[in-house]
Amino acid sequence: MSERKRTGPFDIIATVVAQEPAGSAAYRLTLDCPEIARCAKPPQFFTISCHALSQIHAGADADSVPLDPILRRPLGFYRVRPDKGEFDTIYQVVGRGTGMLTLLKPGDRVRVLGPLGKNINPKDIRSRTALLVGGGAGLPPLCYLSEALQDAGKEIIVIAGARYRELLIAPTVSRRLKRPVGGRKDVQSLEPLAQRDIDCAIALERHEEGFFEGLITAPLEEYLELDYEGGVEIVACGPPPMVRVIAKLAEKKSVKCTVVMESRMGCAIGACQTCVIKTTSGYRRVCVEGPVFDAKDIVWE
Ligand SMILES: Cc1cc2nc3c(=O)[nH]c(=O)nc-3n(C[C@H](O)[C@H](O)[C@H](O)COP(=O)(O)OP(=O)(O)OC[C@H]3O[C@@H](n4cnc5c(N)ncnc54)[C@H](O)[C@@H]3O)c2cc1C
Ligand code: FES
Repeated sequence: MSERKRTGPFDIIATVVAQEPAGSAAYRLTLDCPEIARCAKPPQFFTISCHALSQIHAGADADSVPLDPILRRPLGFYRVRPDKGEFDTIYQVVGRGTGMLTLLKPGDRVRVLGPLGKNINPKDIRSRTALLVGGGAGLPPLCYLSEALQDAGKEIIVIAGARYRELLIAPTVSRRLKRPVGGRKDVQSLEPLAQRDIDCAIALERHEEGFFEGLITAPLEEYLELDYEGGVEIVACGPPPMVRVIAKLAEKKSVKCTVVMESRMGCAIGACQTCVIKTTSGYRRVCVEGPVFDAKDIVWE
């Protein structure tokens, strides 16, 4: 089997296994798709058609085929179970495409393309400890990345940000931090991270018991004050303004920072240039050359 056959990307039909709410404006979608589940690595992504195939084939004449939205939407991997041939994604409902995804139900068949983009190999993280910092749509892939890095023997601390608790993608549980910061020992942690004994500090913009208050940079600054045997580095994943602030803070503290960039996408296969971002060596396509970049290579505008 050729290398491309083994690692994709695969343009293929997946079957919906489950769909359930994940927080107040997000859904967790489980797809059966062994080809992609076998080789998806964090933080790669896939694109998904917003229509189930049954909808498309329901009408025989071309006029009844729903063309809007015609472009597939890019989403990250949250959980991947190669043994079962399934993967989960968590998406926020922000517009027409993601609104239509909420109509998918178990048994529906849907076109997907993936895995796409570059992954982070645990060997790329030279330090013993990785601070994984993210929010919004960046949080599900960050959870998947935390598992992969922990499995490779890294010490992981996740710092998550949201405007308020209901926007978090997973339930929270009370946990004692292994490395307390900001005078706190007991905090609310995301359940999937607590299950893996990964420290998680969550910053909310409004005050709630058990959470850090303010922007994500508040707990991040606290963590950057600690000593780390074997070194520490940052991986940031989330909305571009958040990632930019994290990258600037990392630069100020002379800490290596890898960023997972979000960008509007068209083709997601390198052909249309919709997703380009400016780097020190020219424009780069997030869908092919990214989404993983060294923060110091990005020209922040
Ligand atoms: C590599 C990658 C991975 C992603 N992973 C996830 C994920 O795991 N979970 C998740 O919820 N979302 C993720 N996104 C964002 C997701 O693709 C968009 O929210 C989605 O395409 C919006 O489609 P829509 O038709 O609902 O919204 P539209 O009607 O097209 O737009 C609605 C609003 O969303 C904004 N928007 C649209 N596309 C993007 C985009 N690509 N990035 C940022 N903002 C956008 C628009 O500016 C607009 O304000 C990812 C995006 C990329 C590029
Ligand atoms: S989305 Fe078309 S080149 Fe990246």
